[in-house]
Amino acid sequence: MPTLSVFGAQWGDEGKGKIIDRLAVDADLVVRYQGGPNAGHTVVVGDVTYVLHLIPSGILHPEKLNVVGNGVAVDPSVMLEEIDGLVERGVAVGPENLVLSSRAHVIFTHHRQLDGLSELWRGEGRIGTTGRGIGPCYSDKTARTGLRVGDLLDADTCRSRLTAALAEKNALITRVHGGEGIDPVVEIESALAIGERLRPYVSDTGAIVRQAAQDGRKILFEGAQGAMLDIDHGTYPYVTSSNTGVAGIGSGVGFPPSRIDLSIGIAKAYCTRVGEGPFPSEAEGEVAERIREIGHEFGSTTGRPRRCGWFDALAIRYALELNGADGLVITNLDVLSHLDEIPVATAYIMGGERVTTYPAGAADLVSLQPEYTVRPGWGTDITGVRHFDDLPEAAQDYVRWIEEEIRCPIKMISIGPERDQVIERGLKPFA
Ligand code: IMP
Repeated sequence: MPTLSVFGAQWGDEGKGKIIDRLAVDADLVVRYQGGPNAGHTVVVGDVTYVLHLIPSGILHPEKLNVVGNGVAVDPSVMLEEIDGLVERGVAVGPENLVLSSRAHVIFTHHRQLDGLSELWRGEGRIGTTGRGIGPCYSDKTARTGLRVGDLLDADTCRSRLTAALAEKNALITRVHGGEGIDPVVEIESALAIGERLRPYVSDTGAIVRQAAQDGRKILFEGAQGAMLDIDHGTYPYVTSSNTGVAGIGSGVGFPPSRIDLSIGIAKAYCTRVGEGPFPSEAEGEVAERIREIGHEFGSTTGRPRRCGWFDALAIRYALELNGADGLVITNLDVLSHLDEIPVATAYIMGGERVTTYPAGAADLVSLQPEYTVRPGWGTDITGVRHFDDLPEAAQDYVRWIEEEIRCPIKMISIGPERDQVIERGLKPFA
């Protein structure tokens, strides 16, 4: 199985960083294809915690090629900071193990500024974005007014395109939003300087990945955010601005989807969401607070407290179906150990009717009531367990029962943040 897609099956923050870091051991390439510095993939190695925003989670393994594909919204200053931070901590980062697509779109100051200003204008209807300029950057990509990484490497192109973009954006910022305009001269000089620093990393990454596949090399596609934040299939408009799963790989890498061999989803044993928008199985009060505390449920990019709730079998089934998943990895099972009873959403009541498939409209999602099936808890620490059979009976039952509900095998279970805190259940994608 030389090509594997790993995607988030909830609203992001499923623990993808740790799982991808683990699966990367057997891969040759780790490829990001969407999202940008809104992502925060956390990998814990001993005493050191790495939070990666743009650089693929394979970077902590020497000799893997890490690819930032054309579908990623790249904030060059974040990328350079991340490179410097890794190098300072002794991680080797250079053009031999990190390449950046010349076609990736660039996030500029005006994108970050407009992200914040638009949120203010949305008022009650705000999305709760990460404020990293993601939406405005992807909007410009689609409007064909954006600049790509390759444009930073050519002074004339950079000057003319950025001058044109800023003329429009400054009018928008100052006249519509009443904000402070951006000095084009300063911005252009900074973009050109950053372009020079990035130049050694810039390549035709699509060609590299396609060639690697032809050579039989093992490729791991690293999804950011989650299926329920997908621009088309998520809880629109409370979503991010990219296709967050398998569908994003074709366009976001330049790789034929027909050549993706295996697809694996990641989901927590419960559920979280940051930002606004429907979250049918959200828990309230002390129960939610306890999960947040034990699971350290605070955003790794923004530090915001995450909304916490219960595993939603309908949402996961939908995410797995969308992504043609061959298996699911369950993370943070240990966080549920303090509970006597564990509710799981298994149906929704909408307008007096019981439904078991995920509804498409945001309005439907707000008005529905989840129906829960309550499973028994196990009430004991499981962070030291390494074999499924050694889990308490109730924990084994919880996992097996979920497998039936979602109609998909659970291939691995994570029971703590450390690299070795996993229970393998036959996930050997590159074997
Ligand atoms: P944006 O991607 O910054 O535009 O934010 C849009 C929505 O996606 C907001 O609700 C964010 O909180 C959410 N979001 C974006 N990236 C992540 C992530 O990596 N994890 C969890 N939520 C995210």
